[in-house]
Amino acid sequence: MVYQANAARYESMEYRRCGRSGLKLPAISLGLWHNFGDSTLLENSRQLLHRAFDSGITHLDLANNYGPPPGSAEENFGRILREDFLPYRDELIISSKAGYTMWEGPYGDWGSRKYLISSLDQSLKRMGLEYVDIFYHHRPDPETPLEETMRALDSVVRQGKALYVGISNYPAELAAQAIDILNSLGTPCLIHQPRYSMFERWVEGSLLNVLQEKGVGSIAFSPLAGGQLTDRYLDGIPADSRAASGSKFLNAEQLTEDKLKKVRKLNAIAQRRGQKLSQMALAWVLRGDKVTSVLIGASKISQIDDAVGMLDNRHFTAAELAEIEEILV
Ligand SMILES: NC(=O)c1ccc[n+]([C@@H]2O[C@H](COP(=O)([O-])OP(=O)(O)OC[C@H]3O[C@@H](n4cnc5c(N)ncnc54)[C@H](OP(=O)(O)O)[C@@H]3O)[C@@H](O)[C@H]2O)c1
Repeated sequence: MVYQANAARYESMEYRRCGRSGLKLPAISLGLWHNFGDSTLLENSRQLLHRAFDSGITHLDLANNYGPPPGSAEENFGRILREDFLPYRDELIISSKAGYTMWEGPYGDWGSRKYLISSLDQSLKRMGLEYVDIFYHHRPDPETPLEETMRALDSVVRQGKALYVGISNYPAELAAQAIDILNSLGTPCLIHQPRYSMFERWVEGSLLNVLQEKGVGSIAFSPLAGGQLTDRYLDGIPADSRAASGSKFLNAEQLTEDKLKKVRKLNAIAQRRGQKLSQMALAWVLRGDKVTSVLIGASKISQIDDAVGMLDNRHFTAAELAEIEEILV
């Protein structure tokens, strides 16, 4: 059956200006890091993308290495794009990145001009796209001159292979330098993608202030700490969960009793607010006006529905914020 997007898809999503750019991003974006590689059923990935777009999630985040195996998320996404989403290409913001190991040898990693430009060419081929909307440098490279990496980002925009560029995982001071270089080249930095959740707060007070000052947007990845800030692990580790999947990013050892104690207390506050913990955790990341979008992952359609349901209750009282703060310290 030909996919037909929900006619009401723009009715409930909120779109937020990304820094001082002309681009608006949905308050919730979907990442394809997990559940889009060759180890996942293509039909499940397809259903997730349908539900996301039908809910107004116009921004889909990829990277060269997403899979497993690396590259397969872009390939599978490319296939679904071709089969279902081509009529909607201009309604989508598709991002990719390069910065982690992608191929063997000295040119398949880090931040050289050689790596970034070749990698984006490969990503475009895998996805069947002429351009991505956002291309990121995925992580800082301590050896390549920052000027070279930023010039490569500037080049891909001038070559028409990306409309905007961004950086990810850059600490505050380096981010400020990168943003200044990009400005001097005439290609402003659109966005920074840091990890940010109730359990990972390094961006507060440093990076987020730099970004706000310089008019750069921010998109918080892993806002649910990979699923820890949900009700998923309250009664053990379900067999179909990330923690049970053998992931090196979330495993049983990370789910300590101390952490679960915090999760239970946070869950009680969420219940009092009449929402799920996952929803409260997303609303918390979006509190204030410093984060443009939360970048979630999902293995099930219901998880996308949960995230979108968050938009109905985003307000926190000062007392609630203080209570949450006490749990998190
Ligand atoms: N720039 C970077 O370096 C970087 C690094 C990491 C991620 N990212 C980006 O950020 C995206 C999101 O990362 P993430 O997947 O770690 O985000 P996350 O939103 O913190 O975690 C998503 C996982 O939480 C669980 N979950 C989600 N909603 C739930 C709900 N309502 N109830 C119960 N469990 C729920 C699911 O895990 P189950 O599998 O257990 O169902 C889901 O896959 C990635 O896809 C990628 O685009 C970027």
